[in-house]
Amino acid sequence: MKTRWYKDAVIYQIYPRSFCDGNGDGIGDIKGIISKLDYIKSLGVDAVWLSPVYKSPNDDNGYDISDYRDIMDEFGTLDDWKEMIDGMHDRGIRLIMDLVVNHTSDEHAWFVESRNKDSEYRDYYIWRKGRGKNGKKPPNNWTSNFVGPAWEYDEQSGEWYLHLFSKKQPDLNWENPKVRQEVADICNYWFDLGVDGFRCDVITYISKKDGLPNGRLKFPLIGDENYIVGPNYHKYIHELNERSFSKYDSMTVGESIGITPDNAFEAIDESVGELDTVFSFDHMGVDFKLNVLPAKFNLAKYKKILDRWQQLPKTCQPTIFLENHDQPRCLPRFVGDYGDKRELAGKALATSILFMRSTPYIYQGQEIGMTNCAFKQEDYKDIMSVNALNTIKKILPPLLPYARKVLLKRARDHARTPMQWTAGKNAGFSTAQPWMLVNPNYKEINVEDSERRGDSLLNFYRKALKYRKGNDVVINGDFRLIYPKSKDIFAYVREYDGKRLFVIVNFKNKQVNFKLPKDLNFDKCELALSNYADAPKKLQSMKLREYEAIVYEL
Ligand code: NOJ
Repeated sequence: MKTRWYKDAVIYQIYPRSFCDGNGDGIGDIKGIISKLDYIKSLGVDAVWLSPVYKSPNDDNGYDISDYRDIMDEFGTLDDWKEMIDGMHDRGIRLIMDLVVNHTSDEHAWFVESRNKDSEYRDYYIWRKGRGKNGKKPPNNWTSNFVGPAWEYDEQSGEWYLHLFSKKQPDLNWENPKVRQEVADICNYWFDLGVDGFRCDVITYISKKDGLPNGRLKFPLIGDENYIVGPNYHKYIHELNERSFSKYDSMTVGESIGITPDNAFEAIDESVGELDTVFSFDHMGVDFKLNVLPAKFNLAKYKKILDRWQQLPKTCQPTIFLENHDQPRCLPRFVGDYGDKRELAGKALATSILFMRSTPYIYQGQEIGMTNCAFKQEDYKDIMSVNALNTIKKILPPLLPYARKVLLKRARDHARTPMQWTAGKNAGFSTAQPWMLVNPNYKEINVEDSERRGDSLLNFYRKALKYRKGNDVVINGDFRLIYPKSKDIFAYVREYDGKRLFVIVNFKNKQVNFKLPKDLNFDKCELALSNYADAPKKLQSMKLREYEAIVYEL
């Protein structure tokens, strides 16, 4: 029976490689996570989404899986994993695993077998003859999401295989019923070991258009309409739901490019039996053009995008996030130059999202206000950054300085610097040299210091989550934006069963006038939460101070 527990849940995302190193080899691992379970519990979150920990050669840090039923050596063993999940469940924390099944690693036994044309696994992947004389041109013009063509030629069989990500991540052929059954079996294997759900990686890419037609050539980093929410997407997910998700009190969240408020009903409504929720990325695109070139953040546009999700029927649960392992840090993306008001700005951002109708996600380090890092070229570790730099160096070297500038704003690496636990050696992440540069600001920004200060961002998150828990106005209430066109203020009213919450956030590092809306009537008003100690007790027209954020109960 599904309890839909995720409607009142806040989920904490762990990127295991960068969270905590338990065995002193410079790489985060499961023992490290176990050592921090009390910390995670103390935040007041309900579940953890764990980025992949399965066996993997790590071409894309675990998003290239070579064995779906075992744990990567660098992260520990299946027994460590069992200890971790027990530790979570003992503390009332659920575990959401990452399900990466659009593609496998090229080192997965299925793909190794599949290289042989006569193997029964050949059809587990998407193999095609090339075009042109001798078939030496790729079968179509699709590009990989990691730069370059989406096809790799295989000398042994004289054919090409499709990889929408790196060439070490061949796409599975979901048209093959055996592949779909394998995926359901993998999910059930982990459910039977106790997991509470899955975050489904690039799940809307699984069904490719018949005949794999050429796409409109677009900017290379953007997906193609020939595989986004393809013709059989809904059929396959519905089938997976029947074979697996629906049998457990689970929750699923799809990384679902192509699902928009206009078609979300067909994908996540409780009546359709597919996924429970999806991540949408439109709000992450407001400060980037074509998803990559830095642009000015426009609060009005951002609010409009979020509002459309809020207005979905109550049987469609939205999600909200400001960060994940693929995004730069939210400071200063959304609040401009915060100067010495980093934590105040972080509290403003937290307030803006935590009281919407949604399942919010907090990414490791967001709760202490970790920031982007001033990387040098040699510091980048992510395959996407490295590929982009190498390609530009090869084909357009004069653009290299610009590419470096873009990466300083856009690289996925910013989210992947080791978690800053203390002001001590390697930020308390590891006793050994970490696999990736530690952000030099760890001496000021770290958990230890945040624990010490009652008014830290970390303690604000705890307070806000405590206030949110079980609050039926937050879980079920209607959502109405106030001053939707304002480029400074993010304000909204939530209403449920005669109770209202009024949330008001100044997104700017300057004072901003707030005028009480004329149509807002209330007899009683209580201050519920604020990021200044002396916030006005009553909701009224006021001068909001820099990044001031207040929640009132009306
Ligand atoms: C989305 C994941 O979030 C990202 O980290 C990964 O590189 C791609 N999918 C490919 O699996």
